[in-house]
Amino acid sequence: MNRPTRVASIGALALAGAILAVRIPSLDAQAADPQKVVDDAYAKFRNLREGKNADYIPALAKVDPNLFGIALVTTDGKVYTAGDLKTEVSIQSISKVFTMAQVIQEQGLDAIEKRIGVDATGARFNSIIAVEAVKTVVGTGAPEMNPLVNPGAISATSMVTGATADQVWTKIIGFHNDAAGRQLTVLQDVYKSESDTNQRNQAIGALMLAYGYIKDNWQQAVDLYTRQCSIGVNAKDLATMAGTLANAGKNPVTGKQVLDADKVPGVLAVMATAGLYDDSGKWLYHTGLPAKSGVGGGIIAVSPGKFGIAVVSPPLDDAGNSVRAQRAIADISNTLGGNPYAAGSKSGR
Ligand code: DON
Repeated sequence: MNRPTRVASIGALALAGAILAVRIPSLDAQAADPQKVVDDAYAKFRNLREGKNADYIPALAKVDPNLFGIALVTTDGKVYTAGDLKTEVSIQSISKVFTMAQVIQEQGLDAIEKRIGVDATGARFNSIIAVEAVKTVVGTGAPEMNPLVNPGAISATSMVTGATADQVWTKIIGFHNDAAGRQLTVLQDVYKSESDTNQRNQAIGALMLAYGYIKDNWQQAVDLYTRQCSIGVNAKDLATMAGTLANAGKNPVTGKQVLDADKVPGVLAVMATAGLYDDSGKWLYHTGLPAKSGVGGGIIAVSPGKFGIAVVSPPLDDAGNSVRAQRAIADISNTLGGNPYAAGSKSGR
């Protein structure tokens, strides 16, 4: 090829690439209308009556089991919703993702991997046996735990720096606010109820200090962890938080860069590994989405580069995950082609 022809071909290729780039929106234009997909899922699952509210924290047993809200936030900032978007539930374990992300933001990906680990424990989220049985990586001695189950999560909370509990809390709630795009508050009834009944988490906190994963003041770590679990959120808050992770760490609604883009893949990997407790593998098999559930009834899921989605519905299955949330998110995401592993597939999964 002579030089002018080659230059022309390169120019044509660059132009085609540019056209392609602007023609790939965060949701495929050929795919179904997202609002209709969300509405359909709401109609399909609103009468599903499986599962039971968590009751080991008394305040959670009192939440209306009929509450059902869905929100989807695309990486270009569009918001699609159905059902109840006003009622707040406690964020519970979904907060573990954002406190872990905050530690990663401040101290880097290695800090979490070395102090806590990023492996599935295969045990229940509040297992004490898992602390006793923790294995370590040959060579480095790093523990094989996970920041999304309680021992690792309470340790992650202890890693947020600050001279006083208030300073640490300001950072934790601030990070959650930035991801949600609004000022969140603690549901005081849940905080009190969980504080009165969290002896198991206190035991975990004390053990984590004894084994050196928490450096000092385990009581403060457990209290702040309990407070972060009591933050009130609705489906739209959660979907915006998920959308922030889908959008390389930038809140797609407010435009604020909350987490560095190069830290997001690590956060999503931990969610994929352990986000739905013992059912994380099954969930990933059916949706391909990094996700996190909380015993308040919320689930967030992330389709990287496309959307964040969240559903709030309190009744949980035996594994501790919201029944309706799992069904609705899988249905919506698979219809919209959200599974990152499903490129080229027609079934969406
Ligand atoms: O520690 C607890 O029991 C609750 N604050 C959180 C539980 C929860 O959502 C389980 N998640 N892994």
